[in-house]
Amino acid sequence: MLSLTNVQVNYGAAPALWDVSLSINEQELVSVIGPNGAGKTTLINAIMRLNDLKAGQMHWMGEDVSGLSAHLLCEKGIALVPESRRLFTNMTVLENLELGSMHPKARSERSRTMEQVFELFPVVKQKLAQKAGELSGGQQQMVAIGRAMMALPRLLLLDEPSLGLAPAIVSDMFKAIQSIHQAGTAVLLVEQNVSRALSISSKTYVLENGRVVAQGPSAEIASRSEIKKAYLGL
Ligand SMILES: Nc1ncnc2c1ncn2[C@@H]1O[C@H](COP(=O)(O)OP(=O)(O)OP(=O)(O)O)[C@@H](O)[C@H]1O
Ligand SMILES: [Mg+2]
Repeated sequence: MLSLTNVQVNYGAAPALWDVSLSINEQELVSVIGPNGAGKTTLINAIMRLNDLKAGQMHWMGEDVSGLSAHLLCEKGIALVPESRRLFTNMTVLENLELGSMHPKARSERSRTMEQVFELFPVVKQKLAQKAGELSGGQQQMVAIGRAMMALPRLLLLDEPSLGLAPAIVSDMFKAIQSIHQAGTAVLLVEQNVSRALSISSKTYVLENGRVVAQGPSAEIASRSEIKKAYLGL
């Protein structure tokens, strides 16, 4: 469905990703783990083309999309829930959701998709008229995921969806991610909560210093002693 081949991303002259290759199959849930500053956000933003590819290619459904803009990738079915959510805090929840569905297909399905978002996150329906900035962190994350779902993605990119949330909400968030996946959407999940990310994904990439240093079935990655030591506190 999506593949990156030998991708490099720079900030100015400084490379932040080196020679990264990665693939996600249709309806797959893939996780990316790694320490702070490893390049996880750089990677997920590069897929959405918020960062340019300095080298390498990206293919989507067999087509070379390396040169396409975020806007066109969104129309093709990729949606991003960015790190720290990036809601329009002075706009209402409803307005934030509507902004997720600007391309023609998403717009024509808007009310139906919104019902699906409410099924996933019932509390969002109660908050439609409220400013997004007035919501709790967990509720804001729900709106951020809802906004991305409004674009009718076939691949959802999630950058640290559980960051800063209360433990009880974290479980709900992971359940919601699993529901989205089970309903047929592929997911690329960047997470600091490594044990949960490993347990819900089928495949995991480990990123360190801008390079993929390990990859494989999540169960196999979870069983490696260096991963247990570095990421699982065992
Ligand atoms: N806009 C930027 N300009 C310059 N350097 C940047 C920029 N954004 C990130 N970097 C650097 O690129 C590297 C990778 O950062 P990135 O944010 O992708 O890491 P991360 O794995 O997402 O970290 P975290 O777990 O803290 O979210 C870091 O060294 C960071 O300092
Ligand atoms: Mg990050």
